[in-house]
Formats: sequence, C-alpha cells, structure tokens
Amino acid sequence: MFSGIAARYDLLNHLLSGNVDKRWRRLVANGLQPSLVEGARVLDVACGTGDLSLVLAGAGRASVVGLDFCRPMLEIARRKAEADSRAVPFVEGDALRLPFADETFDVVTIAFGLRNLAGVFEGLRELRRILRPGGRVAVLEFSSPVVPGFRALFRFYFTRVLPRIGGLVSGSRGAYEYLPDSVSRFPDQKRLAELMREAGFEGVSYRNLTGGIAALHTGARAPGGG
Ligand SMILES: C[S@@+](CC[C@H](N)C(=O)[O-])C[C@H]1O[C@@H](n2cnc3c(N)ncnc32)[C@H](O)[C@@H]1O
Repeated sequence: MFSGIAARYDLLNHLLSGNVDKRWRRLVANGLQPSLVEGARVLDVACGTGDLSLVLAGAGRASVVGLDFCRPMLEIARRKAEADSRAVPFVEGDALRLPFADETFDVVTIAFGLRNLAGVFEGLRELRRILRPGGRVAVLEFSSPVVPGFRALFRFYFTRVLPRIGGLVSGSRGAYEYLPDSVSRFPDQKRLAELMREAGFEGVSYRNLTGGIAALHTGARAPGGG
C-alpha cells in the first residue's frame, strides 16, 4: 500500500493537512532539541519519505538514521537528503524487528507509523529495546480530537472528504480509506500513554496538537526492569 502512494505521499500530506503536518514535525524536533547534541544517535522509525528525519538532522548536531520497510519511500527520502546535503542514512528494515543491537540509540522517534504496525505494544517494546536507558522516545500520531463540535466536523472531513481527494490524487482510494479506519482502531491519547508506560517508558506525557487531531507523546526508557 505504501509503495503505491509513495510518489504522491508528500504532496497529499501537505495538501490534506493544509501544511499543518510540517508544524507537527517541527514540534517533535523542538521538544527533543536538548537531546540532539553532537555524538547523540537518533533513529526515526517508519520514516517514510524522511521528512521528520531531515527536520531532526537540521535541528541539532546528532547523527540521525531513518528506517522504513518500503523501498520507494526510502528512495524519495534519500533524494531529499541529497538535495538538502544532509548525511542521513536511510535503511530498510521492519519496525517490529529493528536491525540494531539493544541500547544503540539516545533518541527514537516514530511519526504516523505506530498505528500501522501489526502490534502497537510490540512496536513500543522494540523502540524501547534499541534505546539506551534514559534515552528519549517521541511518538507523533493521529489521535482523538478533544472538542466535541470540532470532533464531528473533523470526522466528516477525515472519513468522507479526505478519502476522495486522497484517492483522486494518489490513484489509491483504499490507502486513504485505510487512514481513517486505522486511526479509529488506534488507542486514544490516554490509552497510548498507558501503553507506553506498560512498555517500559517513564515520564510519559502527551500534548494535543491542533485540537487533538494528532498527539505528541514523549517519555524516556526507564533505567532498568520494565
Ligand atoms: C504514514 S507513513 C509515515 C511516514 C513518516 N514518518 C511521516 O511522518 O510522514 C507510515 C510509514 O510507516 C511505514 N511502515 C509501516 N509498517 C512498517 C514496519 N513494520 N516497519 C517499517 N516501516 C513501516 C510505511 O512504509 C510508511 O512509510
């Protein structure tokens, strides 16, 4: 599915969100800024066309690696890194079996990726595994709008309007029907925070973005146990 929409993925992200997606990714980088220091290692899981990886690389001096299992997405990410003169390696791999040793990274991020994994909890455990104790995690994902009137309006847009535009522009209506479907099955803000704690992260908190259309959850790998 992701291979089929890769070529139009960026265009549709910006079009369907009115460019708000760019602001959301910048907020991830802003929140992580103190950790993006020289020598720090950052993994951006389910990086897609690399937008968040490149924002992270530009936000500090850390070494950023992007990972995704969809080659056409990675090819676009590599071209963007080259055009930006950024030395960001983009590697092919499965988020549920990350090709890295335990405790390799200081920061791990996943943007609009966790919802797509076969197991959300298993995905969180895998993010934790490759993070050093005390290392930071950031999860950016669609969530549940918190204001009732706005929620109804957004729901109409997300389930009726977006699949049509997404289908027309990408040629894959299924992919843009899958989007609201997968969001409706995904845990809301509070439940995701609980799952992150259960997966062994501490200091978990979240911030609603654009009225809760998306949420940014952050935390750190607990030093031991978990
Ligand atoms: C909605 S896109 C998000 C891309 C990017 N992070 C962004 O913010 O635009 C979801 C990405 O998750 C990737 N993905 C889904 N399941 C995956 C898995 N098990 N392992 C690696 N990547 C995965 C897809 O290939 C796709 O590029």
